Amino acid sequence: MTVQISPSVLAADFARLAEEAAAVADVADWLHIDVMDGHFVPNLTIGLPVVNALLKHTRLPLDCHLMIADPDRWAPAYAEAGARNVTIHAEAAGAPVRTLRMIRSAGSRAGLGINPGTAIEPYADLLPEVDMVLVMTVEPGFGGQPFLDLVLDKVRRTRQLIARHGGEVWLQVDGGVTEETIGRCAEAGADVFVAGTAVFGATEPAAAVRVLRSAADAARRRAAEHG
Ligand code: DX5
Ligand code: ZN
Repeated sequence: MTVQISPSVLAADFARLAEEAAAVADVADWLHIDVMDGHFVPNLTIGLPVVNALLKHTRLPLDCHLMIADPDRWAPAYAEAGARNVTIHAEAAGAPVRTLRMIRSAGSRAGLGINPGTAIEPYADLLPEVDMVLVMTVEPGFGGQPFLDLVLDKVRRTRQLIARHGGEVWLQVDGGVTEETIGRCAEAGADVFVAGTAVFGATEPAAAVRVLRSAADAARRRAAEHG
């Protein structure tokens, strides 16, 4: 899979979401939407009404990351609304297989997210049910936190499990992804990169996306050369 960049609107101006999305529309692959409910994570952000509004104002596919306590109840509605990807958290899902299947049958890609302290191995059997694994590289809830290098070994292990499984499953990292850290993620096997502060905190968000992409591409080339 080629490198994909998913700017997170968590770091954008919430009063100007359509304009912020437009600023990266020509260079980004996705628009990452952090849905937080004040229960699964302490923060509270946006939900389905804002996703519905954004769908009318951007041509970027929406990458909805549900940090909510009851994804079984709410995730299918995001898929039905037209989000191209819907990621639920393993720690929150009561019936992940059923919910992932509902997301797919509504026409979206299905993602499974895990927090820094959650191991991937217990979820290996779910790989046939997912289109993407999201390995959080910070504790979820807030933007602008420092990248957790301790998660990189899990990124590597996840890439190995995906290779063993054989299907095409994308591997996303989210949290503290910057020009400085993105290379390590790419070398460890990630191919979809979420970045909030590094994109919308920059003076020129589109230029920041280009910088991230070329840093990830360069790291992948290095990793390929060194086997
Ligand atoms: C954190 C969110 C991230 C956040 C990343 O809980 O899931 O998507 O926006 O923000 P940065 O890139 O600033 O760490
Ligand atoms: Zn996120």
